[in-house]
Amino acid sequence: MHVPSYVRHERLKAWIAEMSALTQPDTVHWCDGSTDEYDRLMDQMVQSGMAIKLNPEKRPNSYLFRSDPKDVARVEDRTFICSRRQAEAGPTNNWVDPREMKQTLWELFDGCMKGRTMYVIPFSMGPIGSPISHIGVEITDSPYVVVNMDIMTRVGQKVVEALGEDGDFVPCVHSVGKPLSKGEADVPWPCNNDQKYIVHFPEDRAIWSYGSGYGGNALLGKKCFALRIASCMAREEGWLAEHMLILGFHTPEGEKTYVGAAFPSACGKTNFAMLIPPSAFKDYKVTTVGDDIAWIKPGPDGTLYAINPEAGFFGVAPGTSYQSNPNAMDTIKRDAIFTNVALTPDGDVWWEGMTKEAPPQLIDWQGQQWTPHCGRLAAHPNARFTAPLRNCPCADPAFEEPKGVPISAFIFGGRRSNTVPLVMQAYNWNYGVYLAATMGSETTAAAAGAVGKVRRDPFAMLPFIGYHMGDYWNHWFDIGRKISNPPRIFGVNWFRKDNDGKFLWPGFGDNMRILKWIVDRVHGRAYAEESPLGWMPRYEDIDWRGAEFPEAAFCKIMSVDRDNWEAELLSHEELFIKLYDRLPKEVVLKRQLMLSRLWRSPIHWEPTHVVAP
Ligand code: GTP
Ligand code: SPV
Ligand code: MN
Repeated sequence: MHVPSYVRHERLKAWIAEMSALTQPDTVHWCDGSTDEYDRLMDQMVQSGMAIKLNPEKRPNSYLFRSDPKDVARVEDRTFICSRRQAEAGPTNNWVDPREMKQTLWELFDGCMKGRTMYVIPFSMGPIGSPISHIGVEITDSPYVVVNMDIMTRVGQKVVEALGEDGDFVPCVHSVGKPLSKGEADVPWPCNNDQKYIVHFPEDRAIWSYGSGYGGNALLGKKCFALRIASCMAREEGWLAEHMLILGFHTPEGEKTYVGAAFPSACGKTNFAMLIPPSAFKDYKVTTVGDDIAWIKPGPDGTLYAINPEAGFFGVAPGTSYQSNPNAMDTIKRDAIFTNVALTPDGDVWWEGMTKEAPPQLIDWQGQQWTPHCGRLAAHPNARFTAPLRNCPCADPAFEEPKGVPISAFIFGGRRSNTVPLVMQAYNWNYGVYLAATMGSETTAAAAGAVGKVRRDPFAMLPFIGYHMGDYWNHWFDIGRKISNPPRIFGVNWFRKDNDGKFLWPGFGDNMRILKWIVDRVHGRAYAEESPLGWMPRYEDIDWRGAEFPEAAFCKIMSVDRDNWEAELLSHEELFIKLYDRLPKEVVLKRQLMLSRLWRSPIHWEPTHVVAP
C-alpha cells in the first residue's frame, strides 16, 4: 500500500491497513482532494458507464449519474444507533447490541471491496483549523462518493496535515457491498439491495455503512457524522448539531441578522436559504451560510454562533426552477453532479418543475425513453444535485468564517396541509422548544417509505439524533438556561392547503414577508397579538408591498381551530408517552397550559376576525 509522505499519523495508517486487510480491495488510493484527482475519477466513471458527461456548452464540468432504482433515498429502517445501552439510543432509533452489530459488520465487510479500489478520504467538517470544526476519514469503494465528498466537504492533504501525528478523527467506513470476482463486469451503480446497514457507534464515535451508494447513506460526513455522531458530541460538550439552514437577512440600512431554520427533509430549506425577495423589496438581501446542517455553540458573550459544517449543497432537484429558486439554478450552472434526473437530447438535464412545459423527449432517470404523456416521472422525486457553496451567487462570505455567525432567531416548520398556521412566535425559549419538539410533518420522498403521512418530527431531527430524543429535548432546555442572549423562536408552515388541495400561501420569494416580520420581531419593531398558540401578526403587521394577498386569505391561513388542535395535542401526548422514561417535565406542563389557552379562545380563532365561541 502506498501511503503519501505527508501522512504522519500512525493510528490513521494502522487503521487503514487494518480496514484494507478486512475488505481486501485491489488497491488503496489516498485522496488528495485536487482538481486533477476529481477530473481523473470522473473520466474513469464516464469510461466505465457509471457517469455521463453533460454537454460542456450547456453545463460545463457537470455529470449525470443514475442510481439503482432500489437505491434512491436514505433508509431509515436500516439506520442504527448502537450505543452500549439501548436506553441511550431511545425509542425513536433502531438499536442493536454493538457487540452483535460489530460481528455482523465484520462478516459483511470481510472481502467486500474485492475487485475494487478502496479510497481514503480525509475530510474536515467546517473550515480547516477552526475550533468548531471536526475531522473525519471516510474509506469507501465508491468513486461517486469521493467526487461528492470533494464538493460537500473539505478534502485532502491539508486535512491530514491538520490532523498532525495524533489528532482526533471520526472513522467512517463505507462499502457499496458488491465485491467483484475475477473478470466480473461491474454494473453502472453497484449496491446491495439485500443487505443495507447504516450504523453509528456513539461511544466509539464510529460510522459503518454498507450496501447503499446514495446520499446520506453513503456521504458519511453529512447525516451520519455532522448530525448523528455530532449530536452526541454536542450534548457532551454543550453545543448543538442541528438539521438547519443558516441565512443572513440584510436591510437597506445595512443591518445584518442571522437566522437558523429547521424544516424536515425536502420541506424547503434550500429554497428558504437562497430566498430572493420580491422586487418591491429593493435593497433587501438574503445570503446563504448553509442549507442543511448547522453546528451552533454558545460564545463567551452569551450569544449562539453557528457554522455550516458542509462546503456544498446536496439539494432536491425536482421543483427547482428559475421561478422557485433562481440562486440554486445559477449555483448548478456548472461544476455540478446530478443524480437521478432526466437527460435531454442535447446533453443537458431536466426534472419535473424545472420548466412549465416538459421537453418533448427525454431519457428518464432510469435510462428509458420518455415523453410527456408516458405516465412516468422523468426524474425521481428525490433526485439531487451536488454543487459547491462557493458557486452560489448569494453565498455569504461568512460561510468560511471559523467563528461562525451570531444567531438571532430559530424557525421551525413542517409540511402541514391543515391545522398549523403560517407563522407564530413562541412566548419564550421553553415554549419554543415545545413547538419544535412537537413539530409534525407530512413525509417526503427524501426517505424510503410512505409519502404524505403526518409524523412527529421533533426539531426536523427524528431521523438524525444519535441518542435518546427525551435527552435531546432536555439538552435544548438546558442550553436555554445557560445563554444570556437566546434567539427568539418561531414556527412557520408554508404548506397549508384549501379544500381543493391548492396551497393557500404563494411561498418561495413571498416567504420574505414572513421572514421580515420575524426579523422585525427580533429587533422589537413589529407588533404581534396573542393567539391561542403564540404571538401572531395581524394582516397589517405583514409587509405586503407589491403583493395582492387579501386579508380574508391571510385570516384563513392563520386560523386556529380548537377541534384540530385537540387532535394535535392528543398526538403530542402519544409522543410524550413514547419518550416517558426521559421526558422533560417542561413539555408536560406546557401542553397543559396550551390546552387551557385553547379552551379560553374561540372555537375558530383568526387574527382580528374573531368568531365568537
Ligand atoms: P433536504 O435537503 O432533504 O434536507 O431538504 P430541504 O429542506 O433542503 O429541501 P428543499 O428546499 O430542496 O425542498 C424542496 C421541496 O420543497 C420542493 O418540493 C419545493 O417545491 C418545496 N418548497 C420549497 N419552498 C416552498 C414554499 O415556500 N412553498 C411550497 N409550497 N413549497 C416549497
Ligand atoms: C435529507 O434527507 O435531509 C437530506 C438528503 O439532506 S440526504 O443527505 O440524503 O440525507
Ligand atoms: Mn437534510
